[in-house]
Amino acid sequence: MYTFKELQNIIEDNLSKIDLDISPIELYEPIKYTLSAGGKRVRPTLTLAACNLFSEDIEKSIKPALALEVFHNFTLLHDDIMDKAELRRNSATVHEKWNENIAILSGDAMSIKAYELLSDTEENHLKSVLKIFNKMAIQICEGQQFDMNFEEKNDVSEDEYLEMIKLKTSVLLATSLKIGAIVGGANENDAQNLYDFGLNLGLAFQLQDDFLDVYGDVNTFGKKIGGDIIANKKTFMLIKALEIADIETKLKINEILNLKEFDKNFKIKSIVDIYNKLEISYLAKNKMDYFYKKALNSFDLVNVEASKKEILFNFASNLMNRNN
Ligand code: IPE
Ligand code: IPE
Ligand code: MG
Ligand code: MG
Ligand code: MG
Repeated sequence: MYTFKELQNIIEDNLSKIDLDISPIELYEPIKYTLSAGGKRVRPTLTLAACNLFSEDIEKSIKPALALEVFHNFTLLHDDIMDKAELRRNSATVHEKWNENIAILSGDAMSIKAYELLSDTEENHLKSVLKIFNKMAIQICEGQQFDMNFEEKNDVSEDEYLEMIKLKTSVLLATSLKIGAIVGGANENDAQNLYDFGLNLGLAFQLQDDFLDVYGDVNTFGKKIGGDIIANKKTFMLIKALEIADIETKLKINEILNLKEFDKNFKIKSIVDIYNKLEISYLAKNKMDYFYKKALNSFDLVNVEASKKEILFNFASNLMNRNN
């Protein structure tokens, strides 16, 4: 069994070996910048750890793990354009540091790089791995489109929100686990239970991301606090606030959402004051906990001895308590 730290080192090591000293530098510098900026490496760690549940030879999961991390980073480049985000991992976003066209094209190149890495998956698993990777990739696009549609829609339901975050975020965590399991030699049942573990962990993970976007600390979170509020993102917290607020507060929220011109800090403070008054953070934490427990139920069903599961178990628990 590998320790968590060992798995992370394998990822960092192999990511830094991807050759990006290529011309034109305007295309490759932003990729280097993005991949070397840190990040929690959640997805590739899940892949290696899932593989390690079934096999001591985790070498075969490295290329697909890298593919998943590079793909994730590609989505972030485009997501930051769509979300007009200026800060990520405590550094300027690519479109801010360079420009939007560069962020689009470097992102495109990263998605192709991801497929190049994925194509090095062992031949006997390649077809099934490609199939679930492709499904995930298109689901992320669907989720991202819903996310943007919802910016303009003020009556998004909790179920619609959960479906949206499942698509934009959860399927990537789930797929990372399932691909690791498949290349590790897991049977269909275990691979599916790991997928379900990832799906529910991903819902909790995005709920936490939305929570930190409001209540996090910019220095640890590395992203601008209040970005979701400025963009009228329909997060669980906003949906709940609209659901439980009295009529007067509801009107106030809608008034704020409909403002065409506003002082950003004023808008953030107005919404956060309402969240605080309604104690929305408890509801968000409860929901997170609900999906975390659901995730653990699926993980329990994975037919592997308990001692081998500890790393993933601890990893999941740390994710729920993260501040970044
Ligand atoms: C950011 O993912 C996008 C979401 C799905 C919330 P992470 O929080 O895993 O970002 P990094 O890779 O650690 O920076
Ligand atoms: C993340 O959603 C989903 C994808 C990047 C596909 P967010 O927009 O909440 O992620 P952050 O907060 O910018 O990292
Ligand atoms: Mg974003
Ligand atoms: Mg987004
Ligand atoms: Mg976010």
